Amino acid sequence: MLAIEIHGYAIISEDDRITDASGATPEALRNEADWRYFQAELDKSDVVVLGRLGHEANPNAKGRRRLVVSSSSPGLEQRADAWWWNPDRCSWDEAIATILPNGGRVAVPGGRRVFDLFLRIGYDVFHLSRAEGVKIGSGTGLFSVCDEGTSACAALFERGLEAGPRKVLDPQLPVSLTLWRR
Ligand SMILES: NC(=O)c1ccc[n+]([C@@H]2O[C@H](COP(=O)([O-])OP(=O)(O)OC[C@H]3O[C@@H](n4cnc5c(N)ncnc54)[C@H](OP(=O)(O)O)[C@@H]3O)[C@@H](O)[C@H]2O)c1
Repeated sequence: MLAIEIHGYAIISEDDRITDASGATPEALRNEADWRYFQAELDKSDVVVLGRLGHEANPNAKGRRRLVVSSSSPGLEQRADAWWWNPDRCSWDEAIATILPNGGRVAVPGGRRVFDLFLRIGYDVFHLSRAEGVKIGSGTGLFSVCDEGTSACAALFERGLEAGPRKVLDPQLPVSLTLWRR
């Protein structure tokens, strides 16, 4: 059995949104302290799993190993820019055993369908940052179930994760960080 640790990362509003109604991340969810924390975490990871749009929108300046989730892939393939994976055509176990044959740490920064996918596969840790007091209203929920009345915390709890202590990343807003662990 491979030793694989899956870590999710998101910054959400008080009402569990990752984007505004236009589908973009609003300024209120962009925070320097959270960004520094996130980048340092990615540096500790062996592969970063992104949806295709996130991959295209964020140049890979540090040359980190990426796995791009896309229906355009026939299964799992290595392209010039990244590994590409279609979860309907290749299982997670098979994909990750190919990419990290000796095990390692996987970072999952979304977007939403990718967060949903790994909610099913199973996070070991979810690093949940929150812009406290920021309400977005209509926008994309962290998980699909967040649009149907289940809170992000309840969704993680239902999948066997438990919250650690709340840490303040930025006292100004504040932006807090809670690690949910299996
Ligand atoms: N606040 C936060 O923490 C946070 C985190 C992440 C993203 N965001 C925001 O969310 C927005 C982007 O997210 P997004 O959801 O639109 O884009 P995304 O997840 O980056 O990319 C979506 C694409 O990924 C592929 N994909 C995802 N799941 C798949 C699956 N299970 N099977 C096959 N393909 C899959 C599809 O590509 P194909 O069309 O090629 O099939 C889909 O069109 C941006 O505004 C971003 O800033 C915010």
